[in-house]
Formats: sequence, C-alpha cells, structure tokens
Amino acid sequence: MSADICFAHLSDWHATSLAGGGAALFRGKRISGWASWGLSRRRHHDPRILAAAFRDVHAQGVDRILVTGDLTHVSLESEFLAAVRQLEALGDPERVFLIPGNHDCYVPASAASSWDHWADYLVGDPFSTFDDELAACLSAPAPAGVAPRHEDYPTLRLSGRLATIGLCSSIPTPIFRAGGRLGPEQLDRLERLLALLAARGMCRVVMIHHPVAAKGEPARRALSDGDDLRAVLARVGAELVVHGHKHRRRINRVPGPVADVPIIGVPSSSEVGSRPDKHAQYHVYRVRGAGLSGPDRFELSAEIRGYDASQGEFRRVDEPLL
Ligand SMILES: [Fe+2]
Repeated sequence: MSADICFAHLSDWHATSLAGGGAALFRGKRISGWASWGLSRRRHHDPRILAAAFRDVHAQGVDRILVTGDLTHVSLESEFLAAVRQLEALGDPERVFLIPGNHDCYVPASAASSWDHWADYLVGDPFSTFDDELAACLSAPAPAGVAPRHEDYPTLRLSGRLATIGLCSSIPTPIFRAGGRLGPEQLDRLERLLALLAARGMCRVVMIHHPVAAKGEPARRALSDGDDLRAVLARVGAELVVHGHKHRRRINRVPGPVADVPIIGVPSSSEVGSRPDKHAQYHVYRVRGAGLSGPDRFELSAEIRGYDASQGEFRRVDEPLL
C-alpha cells in the first residue's frame, strides 16, 4: 500500500499588468488583447486574490501543484518575468508543474523572450531518471534553461504512484480566436505513455489548458483535435484530466476503456468574481493508492477551495467535484 499523495490545481490567473508595455503592445493581435485588458480584464484579476490563493495552497500542505496556463494576457516578456516571481512565490520548480495556455503564446514570440523564462517549471523530470520504455514515449531532452516547445510535448513527472502528464494545446491563433491543437505526434506519444503507465499501475493525471469534453465550447475557442484526444482516452484511459481556459468550474466525463475518465475544469485563481460562478477558486485532489487491481485501484477525492471576499481568504466550498 502506498502513501497518499495530495496535489492542488490552479489556472488562468492572468495577474500581470500591461501598463508600460510600449510599442510591443501594437504587434498584431496584441492590440485587441490590450483593449480587452484595459476595458475589463484588469479589473477582473487581482494579484491580492492570487496571493491569498497561494497562502491557502501552502496551508493545505500539498505535495504537488499543477498549473494549467494563462498566467499572462498578451505574452509580453515583462509579463513572463512577472509570472516568474508569482511562480516562485507559489513553490519551487520541483513541486510546481506548469503547462502554457493560449494567452502564453498570444502572438508568435521567441522562446528566449517567453517560455524559456518558465523553463524550470515547464520541464518534466530529468530525462536520465526515465528508463528506456518511458524515454521512448517522450521527446529528447532540451538543454538546461530551454523550455519544451509545442512539438516536444507531452512532459512527464513521477511522484510515487502519481504520474502527471503535461500536454501543450496552446498555439498562436488569429484575432478573436482562442482555440488549441495537440497534433498527431503529441497524441501518439500520449497514447503510448498512458498505456505504459497503466501497465505499471500508475495513477495517471493529465494536464491540458483547453477543455476536453465534446460539448460546450464554440469552435473558435475549442480544441480542434478534441475528437482525437477523446479517442485516445477511450482506448487507454486516464484516472483524471484537469484543464483551465473557461474560468469556470466544469465537470465532465468521457468514456475510457474500463471506466469513464473525469474531466475537471478549474476557475481562475485570481478572479474578483463578476458573477457567482466566476469567483476565484482552485481544487485540491487526494490520491489514495489502495493497492487494489482494476479501475478502483486508486481512490480519488477532491475539495474545492473558493475565495471569500468578506474575509479576504480562501475557504472550503461544500460542493461536489468528482
Ligand atoms: Fe485560455
């Protein structure tokens, strides 16, 4: 019997400022993002709420922290640098595992001025720690300080019987579009990885920025190869898929080979809350490795932590998640 593992899931905190962004704001699609930030978004995301979320995460004593992207608005280098300081306040790179969101590749930008600033948080475990079978499911490692690119995903981190798999659905898109794409190479590696990890009795948690369920997302904001991802999950399964992007809680299930796969979307962890379903929240999951066989070999439980504006702190929300 293995020990419990506890992890938090946060996303879409968008708690950076575009003030002083200068000429870089007038590059392509950034103009619309800057207008959106000035007119509304800057009032919806509050760094003080994010700081309260971090305090609460630390108080929960979680083992791992998963972050599913959209830390920036329009991918300015100054935003990536501000988000580094936020990530450092959340935890060290060994505990915090990050994937990028669509706002983190808002326009095509050099990796050196964008994702590479987050490299330590984006990379998987050191490649040398993987055996040959695992290594065959993953891309060759990048040099230190270089972040994985879209074509390098999935990324993988192992912690006891917990296997956390990072996907990258985020690609630059035209104005007024915010969709995503995985691509056939990433899907092929994912399928082989999920099958191998299942055979080894690991609890497989998949991180993706975009929603996975077939319904509820207009094409301009959806995963274009979502059918292919759902087909992979139907063939090889996963114990849990977590995502962001919606800034709302989303609870879905898609068919797996033995049991349905829970697909859980988390709200933003910094949102002031213009509507009741958009208050800042994050999720805490606990995995109990029961040592059983079959689809019940892991017991997964979850708790919703939501921002209470009257107290300036996060509290338990007594609503079901799984
Ligand atoms: Fe997003």
